[in-house]
Amino acid sequence: MSTSDYLNNAWYAAAWSSEVGRALLERTILEQPVLLYRKEDGAPVAIGNRCAHRFAPLGMGKLIGDTVQCRYHGLRYDGTGRCVLNPHADGMIPPRMAVPSYTLAEKHGLIWLWMGDPHKADADTIPDFSCHTDPALAFVGGVIEMKANYQLITDNLLDLAHGEFVHEGVLSSEAITRSRLQTIEQGTTIYSNRWMPSGEAIPAFAMIFDGHRPGQPVDQWAYMRWDAPAHMLLDVGITAVGQSRGEGAWIYGTDILTPKDTCSTYYFWGITRGYKIDDPAAGMLWREVIKQAFEGQDQVIIEAQQRMLGAQSLEQAGPVMFASDAAAQRARKRLAELVRKDAVPAPQNPDLSALRQRGAQSRSPILPAV
Ligand code: FES
Ligand SMILES: [Fe+2]
Repeated sequence: MSTSDYLNNAWYAAAWSSEVGRALLERTILEQPVLLYRKEDGAPVAIGNRCAHRFAPLGMGKLIGDTVQCRYHGLRYDGTGRCVLNPHADGMIPPRMAVPSYTLAEKHGLIWLWMGDPHKADADTIPDFSCHTDPALAFVGGVIEMKANYQLITDNLLDLAHGEFVHEGVLSSEAITRSRLQTIEQGTTIYSNRWMPSGEAIPAFAMIFDGHRPGQPVDQWAYMRWDAPAHMLLDVGITAVGQSRGEGAWIYGTDILTPKDTCSTYYFWGITRGYKIDDPAAGMLWREVIKQAFEGQDQVIIEAQQRMLGAQSLEQAGPVMFASDAAAQRARKRLAELVRKDAVPAPQNPDLSALRQRGAQSRSPILPAV
């Protein structure tokens, strides 16, 4: 994969807002070294992290006011990437003594980076993750680095059929494997809706649903929304058999993937809940579930899968597919089209509460009757 294989004209999550402050944060995004920090007025900036002089990482340097001083020979750069101080000899600053600067947007609790044509950067095309900052909801999140191509992680998230096998004891249930699945495409947004009627409760959901009695079957759902390049939001929950979704317990799961390079990915995960919003223990419980399920289970199998593929892409290796791969395959196809056309994704962005409503009231046979 070369940098031309990435979708350039797209927003990528660079960091959670809470990760960026008056300290230097180094990230590699689409194979480019990036340095993030906040100016004294709180505005976030992202500049290249490779000094123009002898290429030392600026992240090892010092933040002085709104400028970064390189640790090696002390050149200073401002938030636009311009060198503003050369402490040596005559202090000459030739035009090439500069690092790139990147277009940023701070939205939904994340700092988003645009590496494509700056004239095409429109923050309205960032998919709706407003649940992260909704005061009526509670949020916990983090970032995991996985040694795998980001599209392998997308495949995993759009194909939750792995739950029964990968997530034993945490997110497993026979109900996942025999669930009814529907894939819907609207513009460049894909929905993969999984309805799991009358089945064994997924352990992590049994814990949050007061109405659950051990051994009793429940209705469960997992509706995933995907936007290019790899921005996913999952509406997932549990309710008593035949009851409406609103009477059960549910969360939004955030899965936003940013390619670091061909074989490694920043995985920005989040859990937004509408229950026990003032109880930090409820958030800690989800942190523990994510640690076990994502780091202890998904990461292990996906990184092993990447090692098996080596430098080959999934397509080059020629996989054998079955029905539950439909959404993942469509996402790969949409993404390849966007990359080929060098286009900007156009998410549908329906209001999130409307999205939940629509799912609850849909006449689609796979969705729960209310
Ligand atoms: S490498 Fe940065 S000032 Fe020399
Ligand atoms: Fe998983």
